Amino acid sequence: MRKLRRLMKSFEDTRILDIGTGNGNFIRILTSLDDGFKSVVGIDLLSGAIKVCKSGFNDERIKFMKMDALKMDFEDNSFDIISLSNSLHHLDDISATLKEMERVLAPGGVLLFCEMRSNNLTKKQKSHLKMHHYAAEIDRERGSVHYETFTDKEILNHLTEKSSLDIKDVWEFVVTDKEEITPKEIEWLFETIDRVQERVEGSEKREYFRKKADKIKNYIRKYGFDSATQLIVVIGK
Ligand SMILES: C[S@@+](CC[C@H](N)C(=O)[O-])C[C@H]1O[C@@H](n2cnc3c(N)ncnc32)[C@H](O)[C@@H]1O
Repeated sequence: MRKLRRLMKSFEDTRILDIGTGNGNFIRILTSLDDGFKSVVGIDLLSGAIKVCKSGFNDERIKFMKMDALKMDFEDNSFDIISLSNSLHHLDDISATLKEMERVLAPGGVLLFCEMRSNNLTKKQKSHLKMHHYAAEIDRERGSVHYETFTDKEILNHLTEKSSLDIKDVWEFVVTDKEEITPKEIEWLFETIDRVQERVEGSEKREYFRKKADKIKNYIRKYGFDSATQLIVVIGK
């Protein structure tokens, strides 16, 4: 968090755009680190997400809009920090999205990526990865764009090869560091897996997904669970 705070504080009257904002998680993190921002806009493709965000924030400087990152209604050079958190692996066209992000980035601004990674994880963190990949596979089965998370190398390759900006900084973001998981938390994780599995109950592949869910539960029983670490990458001119 120290490095993220330093990045936030390196700008004044900051105009922030958070793409693929979901429930506004990343906006909460950024704005809790530094209150000196001028405005924040969170955008997402899903109207449900925007509705939840609109009722969950109480700061006039923070706004939410339903918008596609591939075709944003913003003028060129509009934002100082543009973030994309845990959404790179949800993008249909990474190159075109990066190009559009660069268009609305002000001179001197940065693109900030925070992405759950698939390498350098402990056994406990791999439980999170397995759950994530399971949900992603089910989303794909149902026609949504949701890939498996990338390795650090893949994330960096995407960002360097598909944008015209340079890497300014890279670091690991440790989300939580749990020693033990309680039986109640295990129960909650298993309920989450069951809820995800229910989405394909009507599908021909339901047995395949049931077996896969059982394997993941067994893995969690054996190794426990912790949030997978994330990779933060800052790129700019
Ligand atoms: C896993 S969520 C990330 C939520 C949040 N940023 C976080 O870190 O918790 C990914 C989000 O990206 C959104 N998304 C995917 N493609 C998008 C696009 N082209 N434009 C805007 N949002 C998009 C999805 O609708 C989804 O809400």
